[in-house]
Amino acid sequence: MSVSVENLSVAYRSRRGDVTAVENVSFTLADGEIMGLAGESGSGKSTLGNALIYLDSRMKQTGGTVMLDGKELPIANMKAMQPLRMKAVSLVPQYAMSALTPTRRIGKLTRDLLKSHGVRNRDEVFTEMRRRIELIGLKEDVLSKYSFELSGGMRQRVTIILSTLLNPSLLIADEVTSALDVSTQRAVGEMLLEFRDRGYVKSAIAITHDLSILAQIADTITIMYAGRLAEKASTNTIVNDPLHPYTQALIASLPEVGVRHDQVTLTGIPGRPPSLVSPPTGCRFRDRCPFAFAECGETPPFEEVRPGHYVACWKVTQEEQAK
Ligand SMILES: Nc1ncnc2c1ncn2[C@@H]1O[C@H](COP(=O)(O)OP(=O)(O)OP(=O)(O)O)[C@@H](O)[C@H]1O
Ligand code: SF4
Ligand SMILES: [Mg+2]
Repeated sequence: MSVSVENLSVAYRSRRGDVTAVENVSFTLADGEIMGLAGESGSGKSTLGNALIYLDSRMKQTGGTVMLDGKELPIANMKAMQPLRMKAVSLVPQYAMSALTPTRRIGKLTRDLLKSHGVRNRDEVFTEMRRRIELIGLKEDVLSKYSFELSGGMRQRVTIILSTLLNPSLLIADEVTSALDVSTQRAVGEMLLEFRDRGYVKSAIAITHDLSILAQIADTITIMYAGRLAEKASTNTIVNDPLHPYTQALIASLPEVGVRHDQVTLTGIPGRPPSLVSPPTGCRFRDRCPFAFAECGETPPFEEVRPGHYVACWKVTQEEQAK
């Protein structure tokens, strides 16, 4: 098991009080697993992804643990996390494409990055970088280019190569395909698969609001809603046999799932998620859920209702128990 997250809660400090953007989140990632993390804008996907590697000064861990390869990650301690970044766990942050330093060539930027991470065998790593650049069909001359000279897709691929250069156990890729056209999205998705297959990353979390790309690359999909996990199962199960009413609504809003839904994102469900500043008690999907009943005033636990299939919904729990 690469990753085990237990009861993780993360809050932002704000003038209106703490905003708990990730609440009581638990899941595991098997070796080799690519887990897609999907949900509407503001559901806490980036907060969860960032929390596994880097809690910035506005964020605080208010509970829970993150284990990577059997060891607890000291996520609340920036200094203790520093030596683990890039080597054990690596993040391609949302908007990474615009974050590549524009004033340094990619090659120089890479050398500086490796140096700042205390990598001694930099020449060797550099040779490996060239190999990986070729592997994904780019030319070696990207190393002598500035980031603004690269197309969006090339920049995104270079960013992923950089993030995985030291073969981390866990890669968190936050919206790496969002700003790209469909064929480039596919190329980036295939690159993630290839890197996993070759062991450049042991496991990965691919964050997106676009389920269609996950249908292509993810082994499992986890759905987040208003800071909590709603459902996790194999990609096939989420697409073809989802149990949580929210997931069902999401999938129903995608025309011809698995066929052609390239442009479709998670929209089309009436209503809005609740505010995270003072969220209502109980199930957070209650106001939008056509099946809400009295029990839903209590928070449903995220539990395994079928082998490998986790759901947080009282209706599902009752139905599965009645079988
Ligand atoms: N610095 C901050 N201070 C206070 N609240 C914040 C801060 N950053 C994010 N939030 C809140 O945390 C919640 C989760 O945000 P997050 O960026 O993790 O969502 P997301 O699912 O990644 O959304 P998107 O799909 O738009 O990227 C949102 O309600 C957001 O308003
Ligand atoms: S717990 Fe209740 S409100 Fe929430 S999704 Fe299930 S049935 Fe709907
Ligand atoms: Mg985000």
